[in-house]
Amino acid sequence: MPGSVDESRRTVSAQLLRGQKALVTGANSGIGLATAVALGRAGADVVVNYVVGADEAEKVVAQIKDFGVRAYAHEADVSDEDQVVAMVARMVEEFGTIDIMVANAGLQRDAAVTDMTLAQWQKVIDVNLTGQFLCAREAAKEFVRRGVVAEVSRSAGKIICMSSVHQIVPWSGHVNYASSKGGVGMLMQTLAQELAPKRIRVNAVAPGAIRTPINRDAWSTPEAEADLLRLIPYRRVGDPDDIANAVVAMASDLLDYVVGATLYVDGGMTLFPGFATGG
Ligand code: BGC
Repeated sequence: MPGSVDESRRTVSAQLLRGQKALVTGANSGIGLATAVALGRAGADVVVNYVVGADEAEKVVAQIKDFGVRAYAHEADVSDEDQVVAMVARMVEEFGTIDIMVANAGLQRDAAVTDMTLAQWQKVIDVNLTGQFLCAREAAKEFVRRGVVAEVSRSAGKIICMSSVHQIVPWSGHVNYASSKGGVGMLMQTLAQELAPKRIRVNAVAPGAIRTPINRDAWSTPEAEADLLRLIPYRRVGDPDDIANAVVAMASDLLDYVVGATLYVDGGMTLFPGFATGG
């Protein structure tokens, strides 16, 4: 795959997160799946959260265990407070603690604003924004309780919010999704400001167009892909590994001084490609 890293170059990352415990929400498909695997490859024990699709989740767990680390699947709806509380509590019980929370789970319910139902609006806000709040809150409680363990990491914990280019790019026909991601940007920055004095790092990774089920229509035919590539100066659609690698770096001490940042991983989609000519 164009975005993937040659296996021989991965050995470097195999120690990056050794001994750390990570939880990835929505980890049985797309970006979450690739991220959970990459964290395991980098030496972390991983909780694979999913809401539907237990079989896929178990396959991800098996793939992660092949790296010689621990992993298990946990079903929970991130927009349900009790389920998120129970998920993090179980992780603390089974793995002892949590070092890395990747608040990734997200969905789209697209419609023109004049057709959008309150249910479509609410579902996207509940999962994409409230879900990230709940996951971040539960992780932060454990980070604060435990503090820094120097042998594990320079920080007391990392929260990585999966955002989108639509954190800053308006998107017609997707007002619920774009609003949720705009919200994720401010959630992340505010938590980063509030938690940094406790040595907790909160950051966001903001993907552009990545080849996953969420946007299959945008790349599954040659015509659609050609259209999409016009929005991407780097002229390739991203792969889940492009995002997974960014999350591993963000979670590692290599980026320990990065606090409250949004890392756009988008082939230049946020560079206003419409202005490449004219203007
Ligand atoms: C959306 C995709 C879209 C991409 C670029 C993502 O956040 O989920 O559907 O292709 O942004 O517009």
